Amino acid sequence: MKMVKLSDRLSLSVLVQGFWRLKSWEMTTKELTDYMNLCIEKGVTSFDTAEIYSDTLCEKLMGEAFEQDKTIRNKIQLISKTGIFAEEINGRRFGYYNTSYDRILQSCKESLQRLKTDYLDLYLIHREDPCFDPWETARALKELKKEGLVKEVGVSNFDPFKFDALNKAMGGELVTNQIEWNPICFEHFNSGMMDYLTVNKIHPMIWSPLAGGKLFKGEEEHCKKALEKLKEIAGRHGEEAETIIYAWLMYHPVGALPLLGSNKPKRLELALKALDVKLKHYEWYEIYTASGQQVLR
Ligand SMILES: NC(=O)c1ccc[n+]([C@@H]2O[C@H](COP(=O)([O-])OP(=O)(O)OC[C@H]3O[C@@H](n4cnc5c(N)ncnc54)[C@H](OP(=O)(O)O)[C@@H]3O)[C@@H](O)[C@H]2O)c1
Repeated sequence: MKMVKLSDRLSLSVLVQGFWRLKSWEMTTKELTDYMNLCIEKGVTSFDTAEIYSDTLCEKLMGEAFEQDKTIRNKIQLISKTGIFAEEINGRRFGYYNTSYDRILQSCKESLQRLKTDYLDLYLIHREDPCFDPWETARALKELKKEGLVKEVGVSNFDPFKFDALNKAMGGELVTNQIEWNPICFEHFNSGMMDYLTVNKIHPMIWSPLAGGKLFKGEEEHCKKALEKLKEIAGRHGEEAETIIYAWLMYHPVGALPLLGSNKPKRLELALKALDVKLKHYEWYEIYTASGQQVLR
């Protein structure tokens, strides 16, 4: 498996297993440790979760797996995130952000307890926070690194301005931005984030690379168009559309790390096959324009 160097202290497997949907997988702890071990055996050694996933349950279930099979934790790079909260306020559930110093320190320590580990390899601020003091957030992240509770820090879903603000306060220590990108989502191309990351040699992690499965439902016109083109290109390579999507993401010079969202071994295999696909340069643009959302000038 190709490892991507995010810093001198941290490299991640180019394909990262995501656990956001873990609750819906309804696995026993044994089934979960078996799946984690399968990922490790295939070289997918980086695992992604977050405090907010299923209201902390995702971290708790992963922690139970690490406790049941104590060999797993030392073989993986563990990533979690903080900053998004949801609670019952006056009888209604309300979601908001908190990237204050105290909250970040508390959240990280709670995540470590749930995950039954002493440290995280990578800790991310989950979303841009409009009520955000980059200096305060940076102070918390630096403190966590100093205490050895996290190896490296980064962000998720940040635009170039917010990334720059926090990275300035961090003295340039942010190692990634975890962003959405797939054949029907181009937000970070249009914001300039992709160019920002490429020129600064910062590798993004890519969430919902298959658009959360929406692409395959074919309910919306732009999904239908994208899928039709993906199947045509897949036919040329003797592969499936999913494999072509992962190959397309990894073709870009930014050096992206796609996150896998399923627990099905056959879908893991389809992702792994992408490592051997050689896309033609024009095929990258065929996919970029397929949904009709992006136009080449
Ligand atoms: N930072 C953030 O804000 C953020 C946001 C969202 C996600 N993430 C991370 O990114 C990871 C991946 O995101 P994701 O789960 O949305 O990834 P994804 O791969 O885009 O979507 C996975 C979903 O697509 C379905 N799917 C895959 N292939 C399919 C096919 N051929 N036909 C129909 N459905 C298909 C899967 O169903 P099956 O379960 O049946 O295989 C699963 O429900 C998450 O686990 C999480 O770690 C981060």
